[in-house]
Amino acid sequence: MTAMFGDFLFGGDYNPEQWPQESWEHDLELLGRAHINEATINVFSWALLEPSEGDYDFSMLDAIVASLDRHGVRIVMATGTAAVPAWMARRYPHVMRKGVDGTQQVFGGRHNFCPSSPKYRERARALASAVARRYAGHPGLVAWHVNNEYGNGGGYCYCETCAAAFRNWLRARYGTVDALNRAWCMNFWSHTIHDFDEVVPPVTYGDGIGTDKCVISGLQIDYRRFQNEQMLDCFRLERDAIRESDASTPITTNLMGTFKDLDYFAWGREMDVVSWDNYPGMDTQPSFTAMCHDLMRGVGGGRPFMLMEQTPNQQNWFPYCKVKRPGEVGKLSWQAVAHGADTVQFFQLKQSVGGCERFHGAVIGHDDSDRSRTYREVAALGADVAARAKRIMGSHVDAKVAVVFDWENYWSLEGCVGPTQGLRYPDEVHRFYRALWKRNVAVDVIESTADLETLRRYDLVVAPTLIMVKPGVADNLERYVEGGGVLVTGYMSGIHDEHDLVVEGGYPGPLRGLCGVWVEEIDAVAPGANVPVRLDVGDGAAVDCAGEIVASIIEPEGARTLATYGGDDFYAGTPAVTAHDVGDGRAIFVGTALDEDGIDALFDDVLHAAGVATIDAPNDVEVASRVGDDGTVYTIVTNTGDETRVWEREDGGRIVLDPFAVLLFEDGVPVAAPAR
Ligand code: GLA
Ligand code: ZN
Repeated sequence: MTAMFGDFLFGGDYNPEQWPQESWEHDLELLGRAHINEATINVFSWALLEPSEGDYDFSMLDAIVASLDRHGVRIVMATGTAAVPAWMARRYPHVMRKGVDGTQQVFGGRHNFCPSSPKYRERARALASAVARRYAGHPGLVAWHVNNEYGNGGGYCYCETCAAAFRNWLRARYGTVDALNRAWCMNFWSHTIHDFDEVVPPVTYGDGIGTDKCVISGLQIDYRRFQNEQMLDCFRLERDAIRESDASTPITTNLMGTFKDLDYFAWGREMDVVSWDNYPGMDTQPSFTAMCHDLMRGVGGGRPFMLMEQTPNQQNWFPYCKVKRPGEVGKLSWQAVAHGADTVQFFQLKQSVGGCERFHGAVIGHDDSDRSRTYREVAALGADVAARAKRIMGSHVDAKVAVVFDWENYWSLEGCVGPTQGLRYPDEVHRFYRALWKRNVAVDVIESTADLETLRRYDLVVAPTLIMVKPGVADNLERYVEGGGVLVTGYMSGIHDEHDLVVEGGYPGPLRGLCGVWVEEIDAVAPGANVPVRLDVGDGAAVDCAGEIVASIIEPEGARTLATYGGDDFYAGTPAVTAHDVGDGRAIFVGTALDEDGIDALFDDVLHAAGVATIDAPNDVEVASRVGDDGTVYTIVTNTGDETRVWEREDGGRIVLDPFAVLLFEDGVPVAAPAR
């Protein structure tokens, strides 16, 4: 695959409009010395660009573009539509979002426009179109950045415009109220409707239970589907406006990893290149970050992605914001590259002096000099990236294992009222992903609706908590296993259809035959408590581990038992994990959220059964590879932790990895970092 950009972009968000123009030269000189070669501009400049409706003023942006040009800095040009200007909110109050609790937003904040508002759409399209007309063909332009982090912070909109559009959306989807009543099980609590106009969005003063659960879960899922489409329409609108002036420059919008409210697979299909913003918190595990990268690469169809934002030092918006330790920014950047990033970009290049992000890390800090540790680390990383990253661009990750991540499933699982509120979908996917990561197994993240041909590329498919089994999915999984594939699924899987209705006939519904089990009951395990589990690891040996959150009470129907529950509860001695050989493959059903020891032990067996190669490296050390079109293998070894690790390799080699150290190998040969 040819690389999307001519150079490895090293840069990020830059908001020079917050400072007098006289200071820009100094900034750009400092940034140049830090090897910054790209600036993402115009993300929040609507109020400056369109001071009153339809009157555009590009003088500031022209000046910014000209300065960047003089310094040879490439431009990722945002359309600037993510925060509406004051005049618009004042003149058209309904461009602003209405919250789930009925609060009508007023001017202020950002990411809080109503995605259905005709006025918002008209003005956003017009602005994107004006920006594109003006800067299309500009020699420094490398990508278009539509809007910003759709959905972040604002939640969905529940206004009357959205409600009316939702009713039309339902009419088109269901045709008749009878079909809708059936799909949503509306005879429950006298919810039967006789007219589509009786439908009310899942507000908290109606059917909504908190912001995330609902009396009628089909309503909730459909409202999510609908809002996702409304927001995606806004993206398409701007994208298409840009395309009228520019036929080829890649168009993106920045995504947010496992962000719940948008079905990013649907978004990925509409974007030329996926970009995303990586902000691990104080206790985010490196394996979780790795999973997010793989997810974002999956959303982009496996192609390289842009690391559009990360902070060069602290965030400001966590309750407690740790400074990044020496080497940590480099580690995070290279980890992204290892998983498919073809850019390393920051939020932001210069630290604000006002506004709520003034304590957010930036390449140029409040000291306004090249003396800060952050600046010096970024500069060293810039030199490193300039020397070593370009060769990797355009290469891909070659994975034999797929992990399913599916947004509608996310909504379905977390929307359940019972049997527990302890399930967080990304965490459950990560529970399984981590076992693969620890063995340095490359993973692709795919949707549950991936077709059979896609499934067959993998020796192992892991589908954690696959509660919603959409049409065709069970058949594909069955044929995949029959054909020799190994499938791992388990607790909470196979319960709902695409309308979030329980599939009758016993859990795991459409996966029951494949897994060879009937889950008769699902016990909730109290927070902090667990159920002992004994896992048979062959040759009479066993591993004692534990199950958390839920315990499925399983009656095997053809499957054999791999693990049993211990303890003294009434289901002690019954199966906790089972395996069912079907055709040439195997379906493994994990009945409870096994702790780390349990999952680790289970995956030794699973990976062996699937014939997947693993790499033994010390704790915290990640070994990940990308493969170029010419077959060159780039391997990035990262010490993701802050302790020195020594890797005694099977080939007799010994590698000492300092905290956050990164090593790059090209076909096994070390590629040295430039001297600091
Ligand atoms: C998001 C936004 C940026 C900025 C950063 C701060 O990623 O896109 O505008 O607010 O967060 O971390
Ligand atoms: Zn709305």
